[in-house]
This record gives sequence, structure tokens and C-alpha cells, in this order.
Amino acid sequence: MPLAYGFAEYGGPETQQFLDPDFPVPGPGQLLVAVHAAGVNPADWKVRAGTRKDTVPVTLPAVLGREVSGVVTAVGDRVDGFAIGDAVFGATATGFGGYAEYTLLNAHSAARKPEPVSFAAAATVPVALGTAFDIVDALAITDEDTVLVIGAGGGVGSAATQLARARGATVLGVASAGKRDLVEGNGATWIESGDDAADRVSGAAASGITAIVDLVGGATLRAFAAAAPGARIVSVADPAGAAELGGSGVERRRTTEVFAAVAALVADGTVDPHVERTFPLREAGAALAVVEGGHARGKVVITVR
Ligand SMILES: NC(=O)c1ccc[n+]([C@@H]2O[C@H](COP(=O)([O-])OP(=O)(O)OC[C@H]3O[C@@H](n4cnc5c(N)ncnc54)[C@H](OP(=O)(O)O)[C@@H]3O)[C@@H](O)[C@H]2O)c1
Repeated sequence: MPLAYGFAEYGGPETQQFLDPDFPVPGPGQLLVAVHAAGVNPADWKVRAGTRKDTVPVTLPAVLGREVSGVVTAVGDRVDGFAIGDAVFGATATGFGGYAEYTLLNAHSAARKPEPVSFAAAATVPVALGTAFDIVDALAITDEDTVLVIGAGGGVGSAATQLARARGATVLGVASAGKRDLVEGNGATWIESGDDAADRVSGAAASGITAIVDLVGGATLRAFAAAAPGARIVSVADPAGAAELGGSGVERRRTTEVFAAVAALVADGTVDPHVERTFPLREAGAALAVVEGGHARGKVVITVR
């Protein structure tokens, strides 16, 4: 039986355990992948906690994780463009997880891994980098924008900063002091997070903030929005809070075409996913604990092979 890590019932980290699921069999349109790396995201613990039951249906026990890279070991019927032996990455199919030796991808949510992109980096494209890509597109960021990224040192925020800079925008990145080097290395002006951060932002952006990318939500988002009247707002941490402020969440595009476009930006150096910590599958619980702590730096990835 292949090794996998998941949870047997909804709840806290104590529900997590190693599982020995049946070997996945690819159905029509699906790929069986020998996993090399799996991205670790806040969504993983939110699914385990049961707060995503409406959008992410799982059958218990369930394997954690939503995104992987690896090598195709079997191809289902009606799949074009993929063959056994291809290095790929993508979003896991409904009912299958990423913290596993083998998983299933839907071919329409998978893409070939560019040769220069590592398996660890490719595993961060479907969720964190793809979300940042969709946000920057949704906000139609241009070189005339001054963009405030709240949570600029995490997985999505770091990528959104680099993508907005690549479009020529000025970027202010809100993060704790330990992430100052990461934020500045991504080309943003660092704003230290904290109670009076919104006041300090007003002084740092002389020409005014035109767009907010929010990865934190709640009172933090409201305070920054008040300091940036008229700014376009997208929040993936708190879409409802953003809507109250005239903004929105983001519609994700989990397609081969979009994933390939994002991976090309990793390959050409436009975006570095900043994979700062890797854990073997045997330490998957420790990997998720880092992200669940809420202050991850860059990306955390589980390396399987
Ligand atoms: N809808 C979607 O498709 C989608 C996709 C991806 C993510 N998300 C959501 O987006 C959020 C961020 O995801 P992520 O992957 O980027 O998470 P992450 O990698 O864990 O990063 C979160 C970052 O927020 C920072 N932070 C926490 N509290 C803060 C505060 N009060 N002010 C400023 N920064 C603060 C943390 O660092 P420091 O505080 O130490 O600086 C950390 O770097 C999560 O809620 C996640 O569920 C949604």
C-alpha cells in the first residue's frame, strides 16, 4: 500500500495520521502520478478542521493536500497531451490528496513541468502561485498602480508581490520584521505589520495606494482599507470582508493553460516561490504545523521522492 498522510475525522491536528489508502486508479481524463513534492497550504488544515465542507468534499479518512508535482505512471482513458514518464504538476482530483506517494490529477488541471523548474517549486504553482497570478490579473495591475500586499512574506503574498512588480507596479509589502529581507528582495517597500501599520502606510505611499492584495483579512484588512480610500481590493483570506469594502475574492483558474503560464514565469525567473522549508513525507504533520501557525515564510513543501 502506498503511504499517505491525512485525517480520520474533522478536527484539530490530533486527528492527523498516516493512512494506507488503496492504490489510486486513474479514471477517464485522469493521471496517476508518483508524487515527488506536495505544497503545504492553509487550505489543508482548514479542510481538516471541517470549515471547507461545502467547497472541498472529502470522504473520511481523507488524504491532506491539494497540489503536487511528480511523474506520470498511468494514464486514464480520454487523456491527450500526457504520457507515462512525463514530469507534471497540478491540482489533485476531488477525493484525492497530495501528502502521498501516489495521487490522481485531472489532466485539465495538470501541466508539464518545465525542465528548469524543480519538483518542489512546481508543487507550489497550483495553489499559492496560481492564486497570486489570478489576483494580479483580477486587479488588472499595471505600471500605474501602487499595490499594498497584506501578508507579503507568505506563499501567496510573496508571489503576488513579484507578479505585480513584473507588471511595473510599485509595491508595499506588509510583513513581520523577520520577513523584511524577503519582502525587499521581491522588490517591495517593507511595512512592518502591527497595530499602527495602517497609519504608517499612508506616509509610505505618497501617490496613494490604488490596489490592495489581502492575505490576512478581518480587522487588519479593514484598517488598511480605511487608509487607502478608493483602492481596488481582492482578498482570498476574507472574501466576505472584502465584499463589505467594495472588493471581492478571486475566481481561480485551475487549468493546464494557466498553470503552464505560471510555471513559465518560474522558469524564466520572474517568480521565485521561495521554498524556504522542506519536510519528508514522514514529517508531514510538522510541515502542516508550520503553516497552521499562521506565520510561514515563503512556501513549505513536503518532498516525497
Ligand atoms: N481562495 C483561494 O484560492 C486561496 C488560495 C491560497 C490561499 N488562500 C488564503 O489566503 C491566505 C494566505 O495564504 P498563504 O498561502 O499566503 O498563507 P501563508 O503562506 O501561511 O502566509 C500567511 C502570511 O500572513 C502573514 N500574517 C499573518 N498575520 C498577519 C497580519 N496581521 N498582518 C500582516 N501579515 C500577517 C504571515 O507572516 P508574518 O505575520 O510573520 O509576517 C504569513 O507570512 C490564507 O487565509 C489562505 O487560506 C486562499
